[in-house]
Amino acid sequence: MSEHSGPGLFAPAEVDEDTWSRLHDLAVEAMEHAYAPYSRFRVGAAAVTEDGRYVSGCNVENAGYGVTLCAECGLVSELVRTGGGRLVALVCVDGRGEACAPCGRCRQVLSEHAHPQMILAMPSGRMTIDEVLPGSFSVQAMAQVDGAVAPTDAH
Ligand code: THU
Repeated sequence: MSEHSGPGLFAPAEVDEDTWSRLHDLAVEAMEHAYAPYSRFRVGAAAVTEDGRYVSGCNVENAGYGVTLCAECGLVSELVRTGGGRLVALVCVDGRGEACAPCGRCRQVLSEHAHPQMILAMPSGRMTIDEVLPGSFSVQAMAQVDGAVAPTDAH
């Protein structure tokens, strides 16, 4: 049995329409808390974990534009704070409540905490994490190199 199939664990393919709808509602609710006075582009993200927890986040901008936190970063912070685990499905929305594509940096941040078949609601439809970030960099690449530090407790 793989690490991602066990009693009580959700697989991405099992996420039903009610769950997608709840994720959308949670993403909109998070977006309404965004702090985006510089761009006026509010973002909210919500995800469900393989053990059925819901986590969310909003973007938090800063006068130092480059240190702005994306909504997905807040979501991953809440994920880790509330017990970690793998994300199976994610919805990210803009200020209209429409699907918003995670930026490249966020795709990398999400991938470390993603179920291998995690599904994202993209503007063009649902896509897997591998489709939105093919050939991603991970700790497995580090483990190939003698002398590189590849921690065994990283995903
Ligand atoms: N933003 C996110 O929160 N997530 C993304 O994946 C894309 C961009 C935010 C950052 C900034 O506050 C605003 O959207 C405009 O770039």
